[in-house]
Formats: sequence, structure tokens, C-alpha cells
Amino acid sequence: MTSKKIETALIAAGRSKRYTQGSVNSVIQRASSLVFDSVADKKRATAGRAEGELFYGRRGTLTHFSLQEAMTELEGGAGCVLYPCGAAAVANAILAFVAAGDNVLMAGSVYEPTQDFCTHILGKMNVSTTWFDHTMGAEIGELVTPQTKVVFLESPASITMEVQDIPAIVAAVRAKAPEAIIMIDNTWAAGILFRALDFGIDISIQAGTKYLIGHSDAMIGTAVANERCWAQLRENSYLMGQMVDADTAYMASRGLRTLAVRLCQHEESALRVAHWLAERPEVAVVNHPALPQCKGHAFWKRDFSGSSGLFSFVLKARLTDRQLADYLDNFEHFSMAYSWGGFESLILANQPEELNAIRPAREVDFSGTLVRVHIGLENVDDLIDDLAAGFARLG
Ligand SMILES: Cc1ncc(COP(=O)(O)O)c(C=O)c1O
Repeated sequence: MTSKKIETALIAAGRSKRYTQGSVNSVIQRASSLVFDSVADKKRATAGRAEGELFYGRRGTLTHFSLQEAMTELEGGAGCVLYPCGAAAVANAILAFVAAGDNVLMAGSVYEPTQDFCTHILGKMNVSTTWFDHTMGAEIGELVTPQTKVVFLESPASITMEVQDIPAIVAAVRAKAPEAIIMIDNTWAAGILFRALDFGIDISIQAGTKYLIGHSDAMIGTAVANERCWAQLRENSYLMGQMVDADTAYMASRGLRTLAVRLCQHEESALRVAHWLAERPEVAVVNHPALPQCKGHAFWKRDFSGSSGLFSFVLKARLTDRQLADYLDNFEHFSMAYSWGGFESLILANQPEELNAIRPAREVDFSGTLVRVHIGLENVDDLIDDLAAGFARLG
């Protein structure tokens, strides 16, 4: 990125005349066939098909190029591949760099389908997975072997929110396996609150479904790669048929324009709620990276430029099934859904044993029920009133 501040960069990125053609936003160019005027044109398009020439729909149209250029600039990479969803971005980024006999080092509390991909798909290909404790730093070096081809991080962790010591991990991996590809699921930070590539990470992946789209109405995945990984990621993903339709790419570009202001509000409201929860007698711990009681808070403070709207808290009590239903079924503003990053507030709960089932490296150290919230753009006082009513229901 240039010296522009992030808010300005988000407005300007990917909006050259080639893509906007006189309008403010990029055009929506829907195409499978892209027609050549001459043999010479066809030749030029074929030669430049990986570098933004209009060639065939699966390589992208002006709408895709605009978003790819914007993401590349915002995350400071050499290029960006688009996928139909975040899970496709995760799977294809890993697949692009492994072969039978290789090993993947995987953080132990990553998003559950990322774990399942390793177990079910990589396992079938004779690619092994070694899970490491999400709170591990430089000690990860002890797990790196000549077979280690990919090291996969997610910070903060899904649901339990531990923040990783990324500089220590990157240094330890590079010392033992300079060729290993380090990737991160950077969805929580929306690719901008944590500048992954500046920390020596090779590929920054996002479920753009969350904050890029921002309105819970479309799915997309993005992976921004540095120079050494870009061509391999791009060509492997292309061969795997990875593409997203032009309308969805447009919606992600549109989301970028308001990303900074939305994130700012998510952050402010989530912090208000987190501090309020920390004072509640029912709450044992608040796992919000910006609160000192969250594991890895010091790393967040050192490495991130802000926080988003997703965090969790642990109740002192383990709720019974009946209490849980009464608690979750009756919120006015918090809905239950398996997603986050949209304008609306969401809530889900997990019992410790449910979390242990998806934490292969280390069991949780609490016995109460964990609640995860996404703080949306409603008035925060209404959200706090809603949560207070929830505690009242618990009696
Ligand atoms: C951290 C994280 N990564 C990846 C994904 C997958 O994204 P998608 O649902 O777009 O496939 C999710 C979805 O919830 C997620 O929370």
C-alpha cells in the first residue's frame, strides 16, 4: 500500500477508469465468452491471461480484476485469488502447496471445517496434519520437520479467541524450514487490522463472506499472496476451477468502501459490551483480544491496529439444556446463526465438551458454558439491555 491512510485506500483501491468506465463503482461485467476483434487481439489476451487481460470468464472480468487489484493493494501482496467462499479459499490455498508425503502444521483451534478439510481431504491424499496448541510461540520450531510444507495460523482462534505470537512463530518456522509456506486465516481482522504479509506470512486468507461483504447476503473467499507464492497459488486455483460470479465480486468491492467505518463501529460497540460483560457476576472471563484477560492480549496489542466485532465469554455456570434454550431463544436483537461480520448481532453457545471435540491440540481450561457474540451495528445500549435480560432469564 502507498502512504495513504487505510480509510482513503479503501475508497480508492481498484477504481481506475479501466474498471469504472465513467461510473463511480466498477462495472459488473458478466461473461463466460470474451470476444476478440482479431487474431492479434486473441494472441495478446492469451499471452496476458494471468496478468489482467480479458481472456475467458474463468480467468475473470473487469469486475473481478477491480476487486483483486483492491485486495492486493490493501493487504500489500503480489496478487489476490477469488473463491466462491472462505472454505474454498482455505482448502485451495493449502492444496496449492502440498503433495503426498508432506505435513501441514495446523493451529489447534482453527475454524472447524478447516480442521475437517485436513482430516478428511488431506488425509486421503497422504498429507499428514500436526496440530499445535494455539498459545504456542517459538516452540513451534520443535514441530517443524523436513516434511513441513504448510504452516496454517488463525488469529484470534475461532470461538476461544487466543491471539497467536506470530513474529515468534514465523521466525521459528523460517529458521528450520525457509521454504515452508505460512498462511493465515485473517478473517477476524478483515485483512486490514492485521497486516499479515508485513509479518512475513506468505498468504492472507479471508472469508470475505464476513466483513468484506458485510451484509450477510453473499459468500466469497479471498487469498492475497506474496511474490514467491502468487503464481503457484493462482495457477493451482485456476486448475481447480476456482472462480466467483461477477455480481458477488461486485458486492465485495462495494463492501470495501464502507469497511473502515463499519469496523470502527463494530469495534467501539464490541468493546463497550466486552467491558460491561467483564463486570457481570455471571461471567468468568471475557475472551476479547483487546481485554487483558484474553489469552495473547499482549500480542494483539503489539501486532494489530484494532479489533472487530466478534468475541466470546465464559459463564461461571454450565447451563442446563433448558436454561440454554431459555437464554438463547428469547433475545430481541441477537439472532442465532453460524456466521458473523454482517451488520446484525449474533449469538451462539458451546459447552466445554463440544469445544474439546474441535480442539485437537489442547482441551479448554474452563467448565462453564461459552457464549460467542458478534456485535452488530444496532445501538449498543439496546444490545446491552438485551444481554442483561438474558442474564435475568438465568435467574
Ligand atoms: C474464521 C473463518 N474462516 C473461514 C470461514 C469459512 O467461510 P465461508 O463460510 O465463506 O466458507 C468461516 C465461516 O464462518 C470462518 O468463521
